[in-house]
Amino acid sequence: ALRQSFVLKAQKQVQRSWNRVQPQASYKVAILGAAGGIGQPLALLVKMSPLVSALHLYDIANVKGVAADLSHCNTPSQVFDFTGAEELANCLEGVDVVVIPAGVPRKPGMTRDDLFNINANIVKTLVEAVADYCPDAFIHIISNPVNSTVPIAAEVLKQKGVYNPKKLFGVTTLDVVRANTFVAQKKNLRLIDVDVPVVGGHAGITILPLLSKTKPSVEFTAEEVPALTTRIQNAGTEVVEAKAGAGSATLSMAYAAARFVESSLRALDGDSDVYECSFVQSDLTELPFFASRVKLGKDGVEALIKSDLEGLTEYEQKALENLKPELKASIEKGINFVQKQP
Ligand code: NAI
Repeated sequence: ALRQSFVLKAQKQVQRSWNRVQPQASYKVAILGAAGGIGQPLALLVKMSPLVSALHLYDIANVKGVAADLSHCNTPSQVFDFTGAEELANCLEGVDVVVIPAGVPRKPGMTRDDLFNINANIVKTLVEAVADYCPDAFIHIISNPVNSTVPIAAEVLKQKGVYNPKKLFGVTTLDVVRANTFVAQKKNLRLIDVDVPVVGGHAGITILPLLSKTKPSVEFTAEEVPALTTRIQNAGTEVVEAKAGAGSATLSMAYAAARFVESSLRALDGDSDVYECSFVQSDLTELPFFASRVKLGKDGVEALIKSDLEGLTEYEQKALENLKPELKASIEKGINFVQKQP
């Protein structure tokens, strides 16, 4: 009996040290535009994830220092830096999730569409490389105007013959984060409990928070609904104006993007209860792309949550119809940008 308990103890010890050396999971995440205002704090937050084994940081400049700095954090992932187009292929090889916050941000007085000319080309070039080197990865597009850059990415992937609509995401998580925060403040709710689905797109009136679908269920007065809706729609501009020329939201955006990365990794890892809002290819409306809640799984979008769009209030129904022409035009602008090129 004594010998048996000795063997058992030894086995347990081996098991314990085995648990220590076994990584929880080992996903590779690339951030393109990693030295920027969003890229740096996003890299820090992703560095903290236990699900990540390698963090690939890419930018056209200044990324070496960011990577050296981050690499000293004693979290499991290894950090690698890649500078300039000639290192992009190496950055993307074998990656599970690619996050793209590359491009210029707004200055006061600018709309997201004013960024089109510069960012459309940046996104096109980067997604061409994604198509060549990691066509199976989840692609998270942050660069604005998201309403056009996601259709641009889709067209590029189609031209390359590798388009998988289930794995292309426009990141609209910040709209949800803002809606949750503002509603919790207004209604004196615990922040952690509040969840407001935000549908449509990611610019001005195309951002449509469905306040009537807030969880836990809350009553809003006739004045609160338009006030909150407008605040959520203009929250980005609030930050642009407060930063007075120094850019747009970076820290809250990094927080939101990190949440979307973590959700994607959990889904990849087999968690069957992962839901996020995102701007994706969709058949929930007559528009080819639409932001809604989606269920995420190992293969990307597993289902679009249709029920959020059922039983809308009159205000929401009207706002939904009103946003469609602008969203449609932005989507077409993106598609045409790629299709009309020689
Ligand atoms: P930033 O100017 O601070 O950083 C952008 C980074 O992209 C820079 O480091 C720059 O070197 C890099 N970059 C430029 N061209 C590149 C290329 N061809 N390849 C790789 N990297 C390249 O800008 P910030 O504040 O980080 O914003 C980035 C983008 O995110 C903007 O387009 C902004 O409008 C968008 N954004 C999106 C939000 C959303 O909710 N989806 C919210 C806030 C911003």
